[in-house]
Amino acid sequence: MNFKNKVVVITGASSGIGKASAIKFAKKNAKVVLVARRKEKLLQVEKEISQYADSTLVCQCDVSNKSQVKEMSDTIIDTFGRIDILVNNAGFVIYGKVSELTIEEIESQMETNYFGMIYCTKNFLPHMIEQRQGHIVNVASVGASFGVPGIASYCATKFAMLGFSEGLKHELHGTGVDVTVVSPIMVDTSLFDHPSFENFSKQSTITTLKPETVANAVLKAANSSKLEIVVPSLANAAIWSKHNFPFLINPIIGNAFRKQLSKRSSKKQS
Ligand SMILES: NC(=O)c1ccc[n+]([C@@H]2O[C@H](COP(=O)([O-])OP(=O)(O)OC[C@H]3O[C@@H](n4cnc5c(N)ncnc54)[C@H](OP(=O)(O)O)[C@@H]3O)[C@@H](O)[C@H]2O)c1
Repeated sequence: MNFKNKVVVITGASSGIGKASAIKFAKKNAKVVLVARRKEKLLQVEKEISQYADSTLVCQCDVSNKSQVKEMSDTIIDTFGRIDILVNNAGFVIYGKVSELTIEEIESQMETNYFGMIYCTKNFLPHMIEQRQGHIVNVASVGASFGVPGIASYCATKFAMLGFSEGLKHELHGTGVDVTVVSPIMVDTSLFDHPSFENFSKQSTITTLKPETVANAVLKAANSSKLEIVVPSLANAAIWSKHNFPFLINPIIGNAFRKQLSKRSSKKQS
């Protein structure tokens, strides 16, 4: 797709996958809007991409805050008059057993990862429908297909995102607006810097992706008619097996992640 002059709004653009996506859209001469809470980080990204992007805009916004999202979307529409691509990427994860997490910790992940995506979608969708053109890219996770011990409440946010996206995609049929979910496996970003990941083995493995690899999938998704792009595509085999042979794959996943969880609990106690 030719992204030249397209208005691309990326939430969670201050680091990781969002930042990598911003750089790639900028290199395609898009107009890139960077959204996140840490303004100084966004300004650094803006500096990095301004040599390529057709134009840029920094919007400091907490996507879990409805009124901040409304203000942010009004600013973007006032500035550019339109939105072509919305990348709902902002998210975070808190590690721990459901029995250990507080209700507020569980709620907060849903508020950012799921409702943040809803607030952005609800504010920008009417403009896309009016334009009869637009694409929403929702960054979920392979955790949208597997409930994993230690991140059950995070997985729930991504299951919710995938289900919402599927329903919305059906609703938008024939409108010129579409939705695609990008679901990566583990990516080397600051997502795991949250204090709850202390004592968690964060070592990159051969399967750990670079944010740039996921950013390539985000750009592909912005021009795809698919519901979901899994990164790497080989992980589709695991999802297929889970749907068709859950009695085989679920115990493998459960055992592997339970071991990690109990290793962490014993480290915490010692
Ligand atoms: N890393 C992985 O292994 C992995 C795997 C699958 C899916 N994902 C998903 O990929 C997305 C991006 O994560 P990442 O891996 O790139 O991690 P990251 O480097 O920590 O980036 C997360 C981004 O989200 C922003 N953010 C968090 N809460 C926000 C809020 N309330 N309002 C606005 N922005 C907020 C952060 O910016 P500020 O702190 O400046 O607000 C940051 O830019 C997330 O949705 C994550 O669930 C990651």
